[in-house]
Amino acid sequence: MCGIVGYVGARNATTLLVNGLKRLEYRGYDSAGVSLMNGQGVETRKAKGKIAMLEAAIEAQPIHGNIGIAHTRWATHGPPNECNAHPHHDCSGTISLVHNGIIENYSPLRAMLQKTGHTFVSDTDTEVLAHLIEAAFDGNLEEAVIDALALVEGTYGIAVISAKDPDKIVAARKGSPLLIGIGDGEHYVASDVAAILQHTRQVVYLDDGEMAILTRDSYRVCDLDAKTVKKGVSRIDWDLDKIEKGGFAHFMLKEIFEQPQTIENTMRGRSVDEDGFSKLGGLNLSKEFLQHLDQIIITACGTSWHSALIGELMIEEHARVRVEVEYASEFRYRNPIVSEQTLCVVISQSGETADTLAAMREAKRRGAKTLGLVNQVGSTIAREDDGGVYLHAGPEIGVASTKAFTSQVIALALLTLKLSRLRNMSVVQGREITQALAALPAQIQTILDSASDIEKIAEAFVDAENFLYLGRGYNFPVALEGALKLKEISYIHAEGYPAAEMKHGPIALIDENMPVVFIAPHDAVFDKVVSNVQEVKARGGRVIVITSREEPALAGKIDYEIRVPETIDMLYPVLTVIPLQLLAYYIAAKRGLNVDQPRNLAKSVTVE
Ligand code: G6P
Repeated sequence: MCGIVGYVGARNATTLLVNGLKRLEYRGYDSAGVSLMNGQGVETRKAKGKIAMLEAAIEAQPIHGNIGIAHTRWATHGPPNECNAHPHHDCSGTISLVHNGIIENYSPLRAMLQKTGHTFVSDTDTEVLAHLIEAAFDGNLEEAVIDALALVEGTYGIAVISAKDPDKIVAARKGSPLLIGIGDGEHYVASDVAAILQHTRQVVYLDDGEMAILTRDSYRVCDLDAKTVKKGVSRIDWDLDKIEKGGFAHFMLKEIFEQPQTIENTMRGRSVDEDGFSKLGGLNLSKEFLQHLDQIIITACGTSWHSALIGELMIEEHARVRVEVEYASEFRYRNPIVSEQTLCVVISQSGETADTLAAMREAKRRGAKTLGLVNQVGSTIAREDDGGVYLHAGPEIGVASTKAFTSQVIALALLTLKLSRLRNMSVVQGREITQALAALPAQIQTILDSASDIEKIAEAFVDAENFLYLGRGYNFPVALEGALKLKEISYIHAEGYPAAEMKHGPIALIDENMPVVFIAPHDAVFDKVVSNVQEVKARGGRVIVITSREEPALAGKIDYEIRVPETIDMLYPVLTVIPLQLLAYYIAAKRGLNVDQPRNLAKSVTVE
């Protein structure tokens, strides 16, 4: 993985492709490359590091052409260097290919190809594809791609060009997202719509097992038996300014500040105040199923897994349905108990995370109904689930997830409301939730209005080496999320713990050098957390408390206080996480780090 863009048309493809790659930078990558059909053959430039390095390589040795493919690579097989960067070539240098995904049987394939005289230059799994296509090539590129892919195990989104069949791009997908962009006398292929949105809003999403043949004037989608597949065209309805920084220093900061609007968008038309009910149009689940389901499994990765933990607490408390939360990567390989009365809720910002997708498919195979809480419209999870709730948070560019998290918690609250009101909750209790939901956007705004106070606190911790985040109940997952945000972007070691568990280990770490963040709003467990604050202070720890009103019990025991407005217990995470996002952001920015593209991380992990 990571990003693919391709173009066939009348324009000079070089700048267009490089600009397309820049739109994909946010996904994380460590090298980049581009191949163009230059009239005589295929010409390629690659560079390790940022796209600026690729631009420098192109400036030093310009390339021109109207057909080309480009890639940003996030290393899986072999270190990030120029040689391992895509595009990769066959022996003759006439075929050029970019690939997202992993070819699992690349090792025997490579040995087999080497025996028949093919020479390899990189450490990548991808290179075997170029050679397999070369071996199968008999004048027609799509036929050679079909033959090559028949030998491959694993996942791929590929785009291929060949100087021997020069007027087209062939793309194919299995397990790694790919879409076609339709222009006027030109066509695009991309792994993410952001790469081509500047040029077209008309897209066709490829499904697994499909291939596309793009020329200047036409596109055709077929299966891997070359049978034409009829596909619908989707229209992208968001604008490019959504993926621009709009005056903020980083996308992450912009996205933190967007949250009053993004959670409003998640709720719009769904939270019905007077009835204390929620309308979720895309559930596709009957009232009877929702009333009688006996178990919910929520599966996700990373930040989305943290929102799942909050969903578990909400649903069990209010809807009284048993909930299991599973890391998708674990769920997919164990032998889970799933019945036809199980609802599997899948949470994913991107809708493309490989483990989450595989977990959903496994749950489906075992008879569960699946429900996707997904941000990216048209993504694979959103297309394969039985029902869905789109988050409508808009494109999230910063690798560290912020606005998707709060929208996920809102979507889970709406689901909780729906289930509870169908099962056991009174209209009065329902209204309490809908009213609290409606107040959240303005409440988030008040926290954002005091961002400069949090920035000052951040200054005191720029050189910290460790951090501990403690919370209880609904705010324990927030502690995990706060710690994750900090480690992702500032590279400071941070751990989240249930506050009372601190006594069973982490307390040994506490001294005057250990900052401890307590997430302690005035909810059902507030008094318990106050005791934990005292335990930390007694050992000299530096205490930062996120709380919701003045509290005499905390007087003299805390070093820094950050205030959030009051809400109902289950919705506190939407408020308490905001200062933690800001704290992580300001610490990382003050350390001079690349906040939006932290080292080693990818926005969307489409490999296992
Ligand atoms: C990656 C991202 C995280 C994200 C996780 C799950 O690790 O860096 O920010 O939480 O994937 O992604 P998803 O798109 O499925 O929510």
